[in-house]
Amino acid sequence: MRAQIGVIGMAVMGQNLALNIEGKGFPVAVYNRTAERTREFAEGRAKGRRIISTYTLEEFVDALARPRRILIMVKAGAPVDAMLEGLFPLLERGDLVMDGGNSHYADTERRLGEAEERGLLYLGVGISGGEYGALCGPSIMAGGHREGYELVREVFERIAAPGPEGPCCGYFGPGSAGHYVKMVHNGIEYAIMETIAEAYDLMKRGLGMSPDEMAGVFSDWNKRELGGYLFEITERILRYRDPGTGEPLVELILDTAKQKGTGKWSTQAALDLGTPAPTIAMAVFARIISAFKDERAAASGVLSGLDPALGVDRGEFIGRLFGAVYLSVIAAYAQGLRQLRDASAERGYGLELAEVARVWMAGCIIRSVLLVPIRKALLDEPDLPLLFLAEPFRSAWEEYHGDLRWVTCIAREHGIPTPAMDSALAFVDAYRTERLPANLIQAQRDFFGAHTYQRIDREGTFHTDWEAVA
Ligand SMILES: NC(=O)c1ccc[n+]([C@@H]2O[C@H](COP(=O)([O-])OP(=O)(O)OC[C@H]3O[C@@H](n4cnc5c(N)ncnc54)[C@H](OP(=O)(O)O)[C@@H]3O)[C@@H](O)[C@H]2O)c1
Repeated sequence: MRAQIGVIGMAVMGQNLALNIEGKGFPVAVYNRTAERTREFAEGRAKGRRIISTYTLEEFVDALARPRRILIMVKAGAPVDAMLEGLFPLLERGDLVMDGGNSHYADTERRLGEAEERGLLYLGVGISGGEYGALCGPSIMAGGHREGYELVREVFERIAAPGPEGPCCGYFGPGSAGHYVKMVHNGIEYAIMETIAEAYDLMKRGLGMSPDEMAGVFSDWNKRELGGYLFEITERILRYRDPGTGEPLVELILDTAKQKGTGKWSTQAALDLGTPAPTIAMAVFARIISAFKDERAAASGVLSGLDPALGVDRGEFIGRLFGAVYLSVIAAYAQGLRQLRDASAERGYGLELAEVARVWMAGCIIRSVLLVPIRKALLDEPDLPLLFLAEPFRSAWEEYHGDLRWVTCIAREHGIPTPAMDSALAFVDAYRTERLPANLIQAQRDFFGAHTYQRIDREGTFHTDWEAVA
């Protein structure tokens, strides 16, 4: 028996993807740098399945039908290069190598070039859905050599999450298109998670609600326009009690959020591109500030704030908090999709944003009922500059911007930080303002640096000697 596909990296993702692929009828060969991990898998979860466990790269490559199709699922960064260095010389023209980890898109561009020089096909594949998704149906975002995608299309379509509009996998374009889309997916994920955390903080500290009471609110929102995986798991987290103490586990968890870098990369890429993604950026900064636990503890005794108790009607506040969260979540998708639109234009990905929305509909962390109208809006207008300009998002802004203003205003009055919600509001307010104060900034730049400016009443480029007496 030769394997139809090979998986390298037998950690959480690799093992579950291998089992998923085999379960859909494709024999799999597996390899891991540390043999012990492969052995454990072979003798445990892989037992009795059409999974060939191999212990050298040569053995692994020999176990694969040609052209070989290899999915690498190792830690992003240097480990991928280390693996490719060993693998590339063993392969033949036309073989396909896929990096399914969270690699930086610039690394993917470089590796794709190296593969091409050897006559190999290469795909950078973003895979979302965590452990469960990998086993039961992830969302798969591929980019690179289209011929390579055709070699694995059937496998991907079988293993991906079944969405309302087809299997949640897609080929998004050449080069690093797949990893770029996955990176921005993670940026949106950061922004939605931060928005949810802010709503939790407002209900907890501001309204004094218990985890069970808050779970009820998230449950309600999850049945409405905000329905989605992150809202669903938030309800479940809030209801979960620590078996040891009987307390809600969430309240026993240290308040420092970790990150693996994709939110940061998404923000860095937005800055490089000159595209506005402030809500995603604020979510990254919020995690960074959360990590300053000791400094925060010290500062809490030095810098005074205000009583966090909001002193408002609970029912009214929660009703209006829905609108604030809803618009902030739309802003997260709007900014991420705008970034993808701009990246596609600059990097030549040829992205179809409606297709991206379709692939995000199931299997991934940001799956949400919102993706149905998002996809429709993008099908109607593929080059839509910003989601808020299309229905039903324009009407949502009309209906709820007052709530977003009110909620963030009250949060500020009581010293509860809501950077994601604040940034979502400021972003749309700036976007919809015809004349911003950037004229003053241009004047300042010209004053101290002779950077010149343009006028609204005359064509041309101007410089003024600002210190000269008028
Ligand atoms: N976990 C998730 O929920 C999730 C979700 C989506 C995407 N991803 C991405 O998928 C990839 C795999 O994630 P994971 O959580 O399964 O594993 P991981 O913890 O990121 O990485 C562990 C794997 O990398 C291998 N590895 C580490 N350094 C290596 C090196 N220098 N040379 C060769 N192999 C090396 C390990 O082999 P040894 O056993 O020999 O150490 C092991 O197989 C990552 O890029 C991750 O960001 C993860």
